[in-house]
Amino acid sequence: MAALTPEELKNLRKSFQEKNQSCFILGASGETGKELLAEILRQQVFSKVTLIGRRKLDLEGPLYASVTQEVVDFEKLDDSAASFQGHAVGFCCLGTTRAKAGADGFVRVDRDYIEHSAKLAKAGGCHHFVLQSTKGADNSSGFLYLRVKGEAEARVEAVGFERCSIFRPAVLLCDRQESRPTEWIARKFLGLVALVSPTAMSVPTVTVARAMVNHVVMPGKEGQKAEVLENAAIHALGQMK
Ligand SMILES: NC(=O)c1ccc[n+]([C@@H]2O[C@H](COP(=O)([O-])OP(=O)(O)OC[C@H]3O[C@@H](n4cnc5c(N)ncnc54)[C@H](OP(=O)(O)O)[C@@H]3O)[C@@H](O)[C@H]2O)c1
Repeated sequence: MAALTPEELKNLRKSFQEKNQSCFILGASGETGKELLAEILRQQVFSKVTLIGRRKLDLEGPLYASVTQEVVDFEKLDDSAASFQGHAVGFCCLGTTRAKAGADGFVRVDRDYIEHSAKLAKAGGCHHFVLQSTKGADNSSGFLYLRVKGEAEARVEAVGFERCSIFRPAVLLCDRQESRPTEWIARKFLGLVALVSPTAMSVPTVTVARAMVNHVVMPGKEGQKAEVLENAAIHALGQMK
């Protein structure tokens, strides 16, 4: 994708903003999700933002005036169908780990909750679904993580959104609150690799978030329903301020 000039991007943001659209975020309490919320509020491209999650976040003050929170039980998601009504765009940064949730729990969150949410979003009028997947996602992989991520992508694509965007970031760089020792060591190492080759093996969560927001204000590609953004493309999009 050719880089836009700051002026072109500014104009796209302005015309998107004038549509007064609503979006929802799944996973706004997570590392990418919270950067995404901050970027959406910074750019003010949506008139309303709904956070759909399993717990209420402490968001006080005028900065959050356009934010609504919906606390849902992901095991009984149909009971919360109304939370998915009326959003033009849906962002999904949901996910857990096998270490945290066990193999079955990981499949449940990273594939089934996402598929169910996507279906409710489509029924509620969402036309653009943005899914945070991962580098190497592949529904025929022998690795559970990559296979489940690939299955989630395929299932979301099959829901039939007017526009569906799949982000495949490499290792996420952030100051993670939660202790994940192996990831912490990898992140330190990759932070050094990133000094030499910034787009190869990692990407800061703030870059992913900015790339997502920049992406939604740009028109979709003609005749291409699912757009897959690999790590280098995410870096390129996320550089545009
Ligand atoms: N870590 C990496 O380097 C990496 C690399 C590429 C792609 N990814 C993928 O990118 C996505 C976002 O990653 P991240 O690190 O930003 O996420 P994160 O910080 O782990 O946050 C995950 C989000 O999912 C929610 N969640 C987890 N388990 C849940 C459950 N059982 N029910 C309801 N909500 C649940 C969390 O809510 P709570 O706050 O309530 O727990 C949180 O909002 C994930 O799909 C991940 O697999 C990660």
